Amino acid sequence: MRMSLSSFNRRPSQPVKTLAMGDKAATVVAIAAQKGGVGKTTTAVSLASAWARFHGLKVLLIDLDPQANCALALRAGLGEGGGSLAEVLSEGKGKEVAEIAIASGVPGLDVTPDDPELQQVEARLAGKIGKELALRKAIERSRTHYDLIVLDCPPHLGPLSVNGLAAADQVIVPCTPSALALAGVSGVVQAIHEVRGQLNPNLALLGVVLTRVDARNKATNGAAMSLIEEAFGELVLPEKVEVNNALAGAQLAGQDIFAHAPASRGARQYMDLAEALLTRIDQGR
Ligand SMILES: Nc1ncnc2c1ncn2[C@@H]1O[C@H](COP(=O)(O)OP(=O)(O)OP(=O)(O)O)[C@@H](O)[C@H]1O
Ligand SMILES: [Mg+2]
Repeated sequence: MRMSLSSFNRRPSQPVKTLAMGDKAATVVAIAAQKGGVGKTTTAVSLASAWARFHGLKVLLIDLDPQANCALALRAGLGEGGGSLAEVLSEGKGKEVAEIAIASGVPGLDVTPDDPELQQVEARLAGKIGKELALRKAIERSRTHYDLIVLDCPPHLGPLSVNGLAAADQVIVPCTPSALALAGVSGVVQAIHEVRGQLNPNLALLGVVLTRVDARNKATNGAAMSLIEEAFGELVLPEKVEVNNALAGAQLAGQDIFAHAPASRGARQYMDLAEALLTRIDQGR
């Protein structure tokens, strides 16, 4: 049968969403750095936990890194079930991230489960039209169930990180006091400019956070920090996170720092950072 012009040109139907609308309007915060090991996952898990625990916010932590460290870092209290983020992102059937997330054990904080399939998502998305917007679409309704959505991005600026930046409102860039890490921050800043121009005009840099600062290395720290402050000025938060073994211990124990070592310096510094960032987020709303 020949197709008529009107049926060919009919608007395609959108995938049906099964998740009901909630009454919240989440701000989406991406934690991104173009360098490995600078404390992205520790920062994502600690901030998300602090915002849920101490500010009474409903928070969703989405692990965009195929190494799946967020669920691992919270594994001691993880709920059962959940689904595949890779499937949500690559199949585009209208499923929402909130539908596959699980309770983290931290009251008010949900997290996406470990998903080995995420390794393949970058390749699966590669040939698709709209590939950069898969996550943005998959949190359209999830946003109405949370106050904050935190994205832990992989350490390179591939398709999953670009999806993170395209879906985010704000970006937090962790940086260790080193020249290499500073170059990584510049890489993210460049990516933010590009994503803003092409995909997400409202994307903003919320701040650069100094992490894993070794208080014993005063000379190197001082030199690296002046370079970072010179480059990013007020964007660098005065609240820093020093090297603290309790943070590495929390990750090993599968607990957030506030459950694992509530009196530690790491807990106190992430609590202060969470509060300072929340003030910046509220000012930007
Ligand atoms: N402030 C800190 N003090 C001590 N150890 C830390 C601190 N922050 C992070 N770590 C440890 O350093 C390692 C790297 O941290 P993390 O996994 O948060 O970095 P990342 O940027 O997410 O790394 P990747 O690029 O591999 O995803 C981990 O073992 C973590 O426990
Ligand atoms: Mg990580």
